[in-house]
Amino acid sequence: MYEQVSHSLLNDILIKLNPEIKQQQIRHFYTRLGANFYSIHSLFYLLYGGRDDFEEQAQRLVETMARQYIVRSDQLKEKDLEREKNHNWFLSQEWVGMALYSDGFANNLQGLQSKLHYFQELGINMIHIMPILQCPEGKSDGGYAVSDFRQVDDRIGDLNDLQSLSEDLQKRNILLTLDVVVNHTSNEHEWAQKARQGEKKYQDYYYLFDNREVPDMFEQTMPEIFPETSPGNFTWDDTMNKWVMTVFNNFQWDLNYSNPAVFIEMLDIILFWTNQGADIIRLDAVAFLWKKIGSTCQNEREAHLILQLMKDCCQVTAPGVLFIAEAIVAPVEIIKYFGEDAINAKECEIAYNATYMALLWDAVATKNSRLLYQGIKSIPDKLERATWLNYVRCHDDIGLGFDDADIRAVGYEPYEHRKFLIDYFTGNYADSIARGLPFGHNSKTGDARISGSLASLVGLQAALESSDQASIDNAVQHILLLNSMIMSFGGIPLLYYGDEIGVLNDCSYLNDEHKANDSRWAHRPKLDWKKVELRHQSGTVEHRIFTALKKMIAVRKEIAAFADFNNRELIHLDNPHLFVFSRFNLRRSSSSVLVVANFDAKPQYLDLDAVGHVFRSSHGQIRDLYSGEVPALFKNQLVVPPYHFYWLSD
Ligand code: GLC
Repeated sequence: MYEQVSHSLLNDILIKLNPEIKQQQIRHFYTRLGANFYSIHSLFYLLYGGRDDFEEQAQRLVETMARQYIVRSDQLKEKDLEREKNHNWFLSQEWVGMALYSDGFANNLQGLQSKLHYFQELGINMIHIMPILQCPEGKSDGGYAVSDFRQVDDRIGDLNDLQSLSEDLQKRNILLTLDVVVNHTSNEHEWAQKARQGEKKYQDYYYLFDNREVPDMFEQTMPEIFPETSPGNFTWDDTMNKWVMTVFNNFQWDLNYSNPAVFIEMLDIILFWTNQGADIIRLDAVAFLWKKIGSTCQNEREAHLILQLMKDCCQVTAPGVLFIAEAIVAPVEIIKYFGEDAINAKECEIAYNATYMALLWDAVATKNSRLLYQGIKSIPDKLERATWLNYVRCHDDIGLGFDDADIRAVGYEPYEHRKFLIDYFTGNYADSIARGLPFGHNSKTGDARISGSLASLVGLQAALESSDQASIDNAVQHILLLNSMIMSFGGIPLLYYGDEIGVLNDCSYLNDEHKANDSRWAHRPKLDWKKVELRHQSGTVEHRIFTALKKMIAVRKEIAAFADFNNRELIHLDNPHLFVFSRFNLRRSSSSVLVVANFDAKPQYLDLDAVGHVFRSSHGQIRDLYSGEVPALFKNQLVVPPYHFYWLSD
């Protein structure tokens, strides 16, 4: 859009451009800058317009984008152009992801590269390597306390290893997702060290306070993220004699985005990683980017403006790169991280579907889909050109962040219901063989979350210990049922490494003083490749789970109706044990798929007449696309075995 104020500022910036930049032939960069500049200027002005050095900062912003564009490889620039032409490429059902720690998966980045065939065997074509950036030993928060944003942690390799891995991935058509921890740094980061030494410039990178006056005001409304290990949101620093804002662990210092220098530094870092070949950047803890007294300091409007600005700037330098929002917040808030509009005020193309994840676990514990149905129904429609990252487990805990109104709407009392879920998954409930662990218990509010591997949470660990075949079968069924839900919902399914062979909790973390009080390490395993080999041995659980998932992935990729064009209709049923939705193909209205899940221990019946408006069928014509078989029908009732799913085609 052409607008005089921003355009004349752009002219001034271009005249003053550093000569090194001026002499480059960067036609595509200038076209994109022109197209995005009105929006970039408006956002930058909203955030930083009150400052005397606004124009100088705007100049630095443009030069940062230009410098990163100049060093972007021709191959990546080519990919940008292709993706501009085919901008819906990531909505296709062909993508299936896996998140993993490279050291847990195969010791390091080189080990990971030597195992890329494993992903291809399973059908994975997007990998999210958990943070690879340099962290202090011990106080690393699993890679989220970064001490150097431009170095690979030397425990897992170096930039050359990453380069080689990224080239190999590209040849195999596997997408690379990397983390950029945008909200905070380690207290050992150079900026923090310089702040400690009294450098004003770097003290302004953080939120520092001489006394408790302002911190106490913040604390009145800020929740605690790690109440057991890091209570409160501020940490006293003896060297500076100041309080530092530390929302997560006390060694993670929150960055001050009201300083444009911080924004520009972090943009430069994001672009640096896009230039290392990342197809997708996972932006960590985005809900926390703006702090305001009197608020929870989450989901503030400015946090959204920052993301919009990051997206606009990234579109100028590396438009083929997508952002994932990691915003584990209330259902109605998560959806806002896609932005306000698919083109204007766009933020992240992909967001973690934490709501669906938590609701699926609710259905497992209650053996019914009441809250699952209600919770999904309450999520507003998402934007076009945006998609979910659907997952069952990840490296973090399971937070029970459903909406209280939804919990009440289905007849539960929120506090009691959450307590039941915690008890259920930590095995403190008569009917449960789940082996989860509590995480983040807050004695002031009674809140808690849950850790544990997928297999241990659905009872595989207990079942194997007691050699109870029926329980083993149930656990395997649950693993497949939950995965079938993320593969068919709409969005990119993201598996978590180890779950594809039923890895159990790993309690070795208890012997490490830096991990012992963080139960999330129970589900951050070191893969035992002898066990992984068992995927080839028929009769083992590894084989049962792996082969079923491999098939599920292959079938998903063939079902056009599973692409994500907001083409899902949730179906209300009187039977609460079943969860049913239809996925329709926008182009050919006939080929819809009815997804049916039974969360109960008993067979359930689905009256096909009740779904006739979305799924026209006549006896004998239904086929389950996953098994390829015709499912059992009794009169016009479909029989759904316990913990079973169907992907029915009419
Ligand atoms: C994100 C990460 C989590 C980490 C937190 C603080 O939520 O997923 O593992 O502890 O950010 O960096």
